[in-house]
Amino acid sequence: MTDDRIRMTGLRDKIMSAEDASNLICDGMIVATSGFTPSGYPKAVPLALTKRAETLDRFSITLITGASVGDEIDGALTRSGLIKKRFPYQTHNDIRDEINSGRILFQDVHLSHLPQYLKSGFYGNVDVAIVEALAITKEGGIIPTTSVGISPTAIQLAQKVIVEINTSQPMTLEGMHDIYFQQRPPHGKPIPIMHPGDRIGTIYIPCDPNKIEAIVFTDIKDGARQFSSIDEKSFIISGYIMEFLNHEVKMGRLPKNLLPLQSGVGCVANAVLGGLVHSNFYNLTCYSEVIQDSMLDLIDSGKVIVASGSALTPSKEGYDRLYKNLEKYASFVVLRPQEISNSPEVIRRLGVIAMNTAIEIDMYGHVNSTNIMGSKMMNGIGGSGDYTRNAYLSFFSTPSTAMNGDISSIVPMVSHVDHTEHDVMIVVTEQGLADLRGTSPTERAMKIIDNCAHPDYKHMLKDYMVRASTGKNKHEPHLIEEALSWHHRFMQTGTMKIK
Ligand code: COA
Repeated sequence: MTDDRIRMTGLRDKIMSAEDASNLICDGMIVATSGFTPSGYPKAVPLALTKRAETLDRFSITLITGASVGDEIDGALTRSGLIKKRFPYQTHNDIRDEINSGRILFQDVHLSHLPQYLKSGFYGNVDVAIVEALAITKEGGIIPTTSVGISPTAIQLAQKVIVEINTSQPMTLEGMHDIYFQQRPPHGKPIPIMHPGDRIGTIYIPCDPNKIEAIVFTDIKDGARQFSSIDEKSFIISGYIMEFLNHEVKMGRLPKNLLPLQSGVGCVANAVLGGLVHSNFYNLTCYSEVIQDSMLDLIDSGKVIVASGSALTPSKEGYDRLYKNLEKYASFVVLRPQEISNSPEVIRRLGVIAMNTAIEIDMYGHVNSTNIMGSKMMNGIGGSGDYTRNAYLSFFSTPSTAMNGDISSIVPMVSHVDHTEHDVMIVVTEQGLADLRGTSPTERAMKIIDNCAHPDYKHMLKDYMVRASTGKNKHEPHLIEEALSWHHRFMQTGTMKIK
């Protein structure tokens, strides 16, 4: 077992317990870890660190990961009060509460930007990298497991590297990764990906073996993501998107096998990919971030020829299915560093179809994906901005109402902006689809209200629009004080409806 997992013999004397390895982490350090979604993140060392924290008075770190990670990091470290600052994305209730209470400082960052920010030293020097690995090669290269994320950058920059070899991760994962380094400006070169399946790098992360200070064995499994089953609204939204894609093929604006697909997170996003399983599209390709259950369905249905991402992130049932047939799925999948999976250059060149989810959308097409009522952080922008801004077609979908109908997801003005009118091309709710391409703001407003707003709110939105348009400035008219009164009204009365 050890021979196969640590092939560079000289490194075997670095094996130690998670408790001993955790001693390498000191108060005030900047710690960067592997992990992208609850996949491929270190587990044993963070858990050992939380135990150590019980005996320490003052101890906190800045934590940087690829994206969200599992409970052993964002849950356990948060509950122990160990995180002072956090970048760039999270999805865990515990850390979300601490961020919203102001006890953890959080910067919500485009995932493609993070590696460059780290390399440029915007966050200071990375003291320790903790990375989950399948194995270490004869040259000291680190073979990742179920995600790549920022591991190449973390390993390259860190003073010390702790490797967690996870024996619950099957060796069949070896060969799935494609590690390519992008140099910092002014030394950057074109990324030579011309097709989503192109392999341009190595199957391991090169690492100076002298940096590896500790190797820890663990068999703690990835925390699987829970997906709620696809509800009726998500199913209807998916139907509108399929109809629209068929229309674009008919119009000659998309090839018969579409263009590379990207799909965001959540129930709606899962339903949209699920819709493709029953579509008449074949030879599909995906250039996305995460490979979820619906992607396994697409592979099984013979619709997809390649899926490129930065992480495998199935549900618990999805993991069982994935690992039972890993050899088959591995032949379809390429896992890349997030600066490549989310690279604006590649996304633009390939002409990706980006399909992401919104919290709320305003009548002019601005999208809020992150801050509920303008100030409660949900997860973060993740990769949605990387894809949306550079896509050939960018979709945003959301149910037309939230909170049992008391909130309209279509509002006069979003309470926080993540994606602007300049980037959002198509808006979809269970009420319908609005194609915003080639429209002025007022044309957009009419389309969004007519096609996407819930009937309970249509007349209120139209009334707002008519009154705003009587003013002097008619390009993107607003009644600025009234625009956000919808959110205010909800907070005062528990509903956006006028009683
Ligand atoms: N106003 C206020 N609250 C709203 C709302 C609205 N218009 N719409 C949704 N919410 C609340 C829901 O009530 C729910 O609250 P709860 O957790 O307290 O129950 C919460 O927001 C999440 O809503 P839900 O419908 O379960 O969302 P989801 O799982 O489909 O996720 C996003 C939607 C936008 C939060 C999610 O897609 C996201 O984080 N996106 C940004 C990152 C991203 O796109 N990453 C992928 C890029 S590759």
